[in-house]
Amino acid sequence: MAKLTIKDVDLNGKRVFVRVDYNVPMEEKDGDMIINDDTRIRATIPTLDHLVNQGAKIILAAHLGRPKGKKEPSMSLRPVAQKLSDLLGRPVAFVDDCIGDKVSQTASALKNGDILLLENVRFYAEEEANDPVFATRLAENADAYVNDAFGAAHRAHASTAGIAKVISEKGGSCAAGLLMERELQFLGDELESPQRPFVVILGGAKVSDKIAVIDRLLEKADSLLIGGAMAYTFKLAKGLKVGKSLVEPDKVDVAKAAMQKAEERGVELLLPTDNTVVTPVVTDKLNSKGKNILEFQNPRHNTDPDIPESEEGVDIGENTATTYKAKIASAKTILWNGPMGIFEDPRFSKGTFAVAEAVADATTNNGAKSIIGGGDSVKALNQSGLGDKVTFMSTGGGASLEFLEGKELPGVAALSDQ
Ligand code: 3PG
Repeated sequence: MAKLTIKDVDLNGKRVFVRVDYNVPMEEKDGDMIINDDTRIRATIPTLDHLVNQGAKIILAAHLGRPKGKKEPSMSLRPVAQKLSDLLGRPVAFVDDCIGDKVSQTASALKNGDILLLENVRFYAEEEANDPVFATRLAENADAYVNDAFGAAHRAHASTAGIAKVISEKGGSCAAGLLMERELQFLGDELESPQRPFVVILGGAKVSDKIAVIDRLLEKADSLLIGGAMAYTFKLAKGLKVGKSLVEPDKVDVAKAAMQKAEERGVELLLPTDNTVVTPVVTDKLNSKGKNILEFQNPRHNTDPDIPESEEGVDIGENTATTYKAKIASAKTILWNGPMGIFEDPRFSKGTFAVAEAVADATTNNGAKSIIGGGDSVKALNQSGLGDKVTFMSTGGGASLEFLEGKELPGVAALSDQ
């Protein structure tokens, strides 16, 4: 059943607890924590603008990192309050706790349209335990609940699930924010009966991360293009040699079953026919964890279906990129999740960037609907400056995958029905 959204409810003058996903990458610079990518913060602005215009009193809550119930200063949300204020061009108050007197005092002083950001909810172990007492304390200052944290909706935590029950019991509405609504629309409704041809591009390191997604998408897609290290497990399943490439030998059966299902259903499943390969060499240099750094030497183009014993595949090759680009160009709906190679290293980013360009071109030139399933593919698109050339980029990582698998997300299930 469709969920209530903030467009369905009047929140004027109401104190609204808004769960957002501000779990953004940060790094320390001269003693300050700097936000490296503010995509997730920007993505909540339509919801915040809507609530401000409605005259709601906004209490934002989020997690950052995995502090496991400890107050970890490097995981404070204070820098996010500043960043959000800069982006919105209005003040954002911050309280260094998410429950208690200080929060109540600040929340009760909010005027219509004011925004308050609370400290990291995961500074309390009760958050991840979905503790009902903690959920009640979070709900103390709120008349209504909004969940805009799609990226955390696969977690049944106090601020994503427990609190909705408390607020509903108090008679308050629990609605999806505009970002949540868009995520559910694009990753859900749009892919339910996609315009055809529907081309799915899956990459990333492991088949095991994507077993359920592959299985579900084989019921919908016309073509499935495989890249990234997971392609080597498929190659292994076909009896090819993969050298030192990253593989999951225990997932060969899964790969075989996927290929069999593709054949039965008439889904075209494509694997790379050529690769960039390197010779991995263990050096004396140590990384921050004290482990020997692996260097990728002598990159070369390998057109042989087999990869020699001493070499490792690190990207799709140019012939594969050409084939994949042509498939993408013929699509009316595209779903992309996972890079084609180790794109963080410029020597092995060509395949991923070729796919990014093809997806953007198909969207701009052919009117294809392109949906990017979060994580590294979003990073690659942003790096290539093509982020605004696709139809939708998910802000979820694990949440997108679980949703694409067809699982019910606790953070969505907890919202009021329309
Ligand atoms: C994410 O970054 O994928 C979400 O914020 C969820 O974070 P978590 O995996 O720590 O729950």
